[in-house]
Amino acid sequence: MPKRVWTLAVLVWVASAAWSVPLAAGRRASARPAVVSSTTGDYGTVVTKYCVTCHNERAKIGGLTLDKMDVSDPGAGADVWERVVRKVRVGMMPPQGSPQPDQETRAALVSWLTTSLDKSATAHPNPVGPWCTG
Ligand code: HEC
Repeated sequence: MPKRVWTLAVLVWVASAAWSVPLAAGRRASARPAVVSSTTGDYGTVVTKYCVTCHNERAKIGGLTLDKMDVSDPGAGADVWERVVRKVRVGMMPPQGSPQPDQETRAALVSWLTTSLDKSATAHPNPVGPWCTG
């Protein structure tokens, strides 16, 4: 990755970390404690365990590969992770008959992805998005 991109990524991370702390604290107070800890490595394990069997570079089921995706940085593959959120949130993925993550794990993954995607959308306003209407 070019150095410039890294610098930007770090800046974004620092900026988002600053206001994510009270946000996370508020959520933790209201929600049941998630079994999956908030380290992103665990989300990678969840994806690898429940999704990559079908969604890998070789099988490419549904045109989707998750083995090369970085769950710790959803903003970098926002289009893919948004599709993931849509499917996982309503329980369509993993498909019936495949090993299922429990409710807590599912909810924690969805919550991590949506929060990160929201943040990266705020950090990188889409030039054709609602921020540019003026
Ligand atoms: C047993 C194989 C299998 C497993 C395991 C599996 N999927 Fe899928 N997935 C499919 C198939 C088949 C499709 C295409 C049909 C469909 O869209 O329902 C699909 C489609 C999708 C799509 C839609 C792609 C698009 O067109 O936008 C997403 C997103 C997705 N899966 C995410 C996941 C996630 C996340 C997991 C793990 C939590 C997972 N899948 C686990 C078989 C699987």
